[in-house]
Amino acid sequence: MKERTLAILKPDCIEAKVTGKVIDEILAAGFDIIAMKMVKMDAKTAGEFYRVHKDKPFYRDLVAFMSSGRCIPMVLEKENAVEDFRKLIGATDPAEAEEGTIRKKYATSKQNNIVHGSDSPENARLEISFFFSEAELVQNG
Ligand code: CMP
Repeated sequence: MKERTLAILKPDCIEAKVTGKVIDEILAAGFDIIAMKMVKMDAKTAGEFYRVHKDKPFYRDLVAFMSSGRCIPMVLEKENAVEDFRKLIGATDPAEAEEGTIRKKYATSKQNNIVHGSDSPENARLEISFFFSEAELVQNG
């Protein structure tokens, strides 16, 4: 059965002008992009998105980073989308990410790691609804 996940191309991805390359990899891996937009989050919005990490030592810097520039949230659809997308992007820390993964190729640090991917189908649903209404999820046919 098809599943959805939320991806976010982070400010470092846009800054490094590798947006097109990363989107190409996502499409080549068989994901269908059913929604996509560009946003500039303020600190309050970024803080809310990452509220599960609010007690972590990296939270303040993460919020500052995610609100430092434009982001591209997108909804991806495919069988096993959540797990497959996390495999495609690799470990949070690019130093630990497998060869060939998006973070291994483009990320520069644990924080500036190019892309976010939901970590469970349940969180995917919550994260998708954070950025998109049902009407914005566009499918062919
Ligand atoms: P993401 O997959 O978007 O989920 C939470 C984000 O917090 C993560 O990617 C990184 O950008 C950031 N992050 C997670 N762990 C650390 C860490 N140890 N140090 C700095 N940033 C982190």
